[in-house]
Amino acid sequence: MNELTLHIIDIVENSVLANASKVSIIIRIDENANLLSIKIEDNGKGIDKQLLSNIESPFYTTKKDRKIKVGLGIPLFKFSALQSGGDFRIDSELGKGTSIEATFQLNNIDRPPLGNLLDTIISIIIGHQNIDFDIPIYNNGMLFHLNTADIKNELEGVPLNYPDVYNFLVQFISQGLSEINLDPQKTY
Ligand SMILES: Nc1ncnc2c1ncn2[C@@H]1O[C@H](COP(=O)(O)OP(=O)(O)OP(=O)(O)O)[C@@H](O)[C@H]1O
Ligand SMILES: [Mg+2]
Repeated sequence: MNELTLHIIDIVENSVLANASKVSIIIRIDENANLLSIKIEDNGKGIDKQLLSNIESPFYTTKKDRKIKVGLGIPLFKFSALQSGGDFRIDSELGKGTSIEATFQLNNIDRPPLGNLLDTIISIIIGHQNIDFDIPIYNNGMLFHLNTADIKNELEGVPLNYPDVYNFLVQFISQGLSEINLDPQKTY
């Protein structure tokens, strides 16, 4: 995948399928540390130990010697991080939730571009309005913090894709990104 936002969408989709009601997406750019990190945490059903030990590789073999495809979302995200001089870790507890963190060397030639954060955030939060998203974005120490639970409280039931609300969200996120020196029209 050639943009990190596509991985974010993919990993969040796992959280959705795991019946999460809360998902955090923590994005950090740190030029001094030459680091870009993406952490996605959910309170979904969690992953049992057996699957967890096999999940980072695209295939695992059962005792009956059958190859079973377990999916590509996680292995591809991991591959992308390791290829960019970064790291990958996944922690999960059954019944509690899952946390996935990928780090990337910011200036690594193999690091995929971040992609369009504005469009990605909008499509994630509007596509899953029943989930509360907590999305802190750090750019070199500056923070833009989006919390959809707070926004939904203010809206008192008006859906996020209601035209005026949608326009407000686009405006609010664009401005928030600009305030931490991230141009919403650019990728990083
Ligand atoms: N956040 C999560 N909570 C609970 N289970 C998860 C979570 N993320 C992944 N899993 C489990 O790990 C499996 C592998 O995930 P992965 O994203 O690699 O592949 P997939 O979702 O099955 O398929 P793909 O992403 O290729 O469409 C999932 O099928 C699911 O059973
Ligand atoms: Mg997946």
